[in-house]
Amino acid sequence: MASEKATVDSAKSVTMTDSAGGDSIEMQVLHGTIGPEVVDIRKLYGQTGRFTYDPGFVSTASCESAITYIDGDEGVLLYRGYAIDELADQSDFPEVCYLLLHGELPNKEEKDDFVHNITYHSMLHEQLHRFFLGFRRDAHPMAIMCGVVGALSSFYHDSTDINDERQRMIASHRMIAKMPTIAAMAYKYSIGQPFAYPRNDLTYAEDFLHMMFSVPAEEYKVSPVLARAMDKIFILHADHEQNASTSTVRLAGSSGANPFACIAAGIACLWGPAHGGANEAVLNMLEEIGSVDRIQEYVNKAKDKDDPFRLFGFGHRVYKNHDPRATVLRKSCHEVLDELGVRDEPLLELAMELERIALEDEYFVEKKLYPNVDFYSGIILRAMGIPTSMFTVLFALARTTGWVAQWNEMISDPTQKIGRPRQLYTGATQRSYVPVSDR
Ligand code: CMC
Repeated sequence: MASEKATVDSAKSVTMTDSAGGDSIEMQVLHGTIGPEVVDIRKLYGQTGRFTYDPGFVSTASCESAITYIDGDEGVLLYRGYAIDELADQSDFPEVCYLLLHGELPNKEEKDDFVHNITYHSMLHEQLHRFFLGFRRDAHPMAIMCGVVGALSSFYHDSTDINDERQRMIASHRMIAKMPTIAAMAYKYSIGQPFAYPRNDLTYAEDFLHMMFSVPAEEYKVSPVLARAMDKIFILHADHEQNASTSTVRLAGSSGANPFACIAAGIACLWGPAHGGANEAVLNMLEEIGSVDRIQEYVNKAKDKDDPFRLFGFGHRVYKNHDPRATVLRKSCHEVLDELGVRDEPLLELAMELERIALEDEYFVEKKLYPNVDFYSGIILRAMGIPTSMFTVLFALARTTGWVAQWNEMISDPTQKIGRPRQLYTGATQRSYVPVSDR
């Protein structure tokens, strides 16, 4: 593996001094391979009885990881050291899955083996089909994903022992393999069409499109351009360091919970519109805006401090220059639209105009709010005929690889502990119970 453990910088330390009492504590400075220095505060509470306060983890590194690196100021995203644009242009999703899970690109034999493994895990236990029938037809597919992925733990008991490395890998392969099947079934269920079984002669992305769009009544031919675009979307969404859903998977996993339950927790977190739900929210927002002449009104709403409205698809906690995934997708977006001949799609015209106005607007420029990955993925997915409610599901499908890679990394770390943040308590101090008759 190309990773190294963090090193202590013996020439540097950070001293924290109590301005009233004068007590000082010296804390070590840690270095990763690249990225900001990290102040090691693990002994802070033990030595001073004080916590740090960092809601939203704005200044907190929650773990050591060798999987993904982001430089938000420079707009850099690396998977195991490889730049995202190189991987998106030259690699494919199964290879990226292998890379994220194992740390290195596979050789030909390793790749064939991995692809075979994933392909032959793509079917679902037949009884799981009945689970779908319990959902309302109008259920959001993310609700179905949370439920069905959580239920996998009751079907695959032979891969839930987290202390067995082999079982962990089988569970990881199962989730990567079955996610497209579950996602497509959630869609088929919502439109009342029969489920399509996976096909072992298709690639991962082709098979997903086949399960989404084929019907028993006629042959479905997968467009290579669309399959490639889908594969690229999967690569771009595969991992993103310690984001909210990945941190959720790690936190759930830190208690020793089984991997299927942990990934279901990640799916639930991803669903929110500030995270993975943003791609769906972008399309809903564009539909609400409706026409180019109303864009300014919405831009003004987004800038209004008294209005909670935000422009979905803009801004990022880490990227303050540009989102490198958005750069790749912007190009791919135009290719797909050319291939499909949907240049005159009104929502696309609206999106491009919104992008132009927001990029020139002082508020957005000053706050470094650039279009993020979700801005373009929503447009491509819509052009490909993917229903809006499935956008976040596709994000979850791709991110499953990152989740399982991060979960495996955490479980194999001998220093791993249950995640247990503390708090700054601001509630009532101790008081006596008052019987209801006296209140
Ligand atoms: N529209 C208008 N104003 C915004 C936006 C936006 N999309 N995003 C941030 N701001 C403003 C925000 O009001 C704040 O202003 P002020 O400093 O005056 O209070 C400032 O920019 C900083 O925002 P923040 O909320 O403190 O930043 P954050 O790092 O906590 O939030 C974010 C990041 C992605 C949640 C946020 O930018 C947002 O809500 N964007 C829209 C939702 C979205 O597109 N999410 C997808 C993120 S990319 C996919 C993923 O990784 O999940």
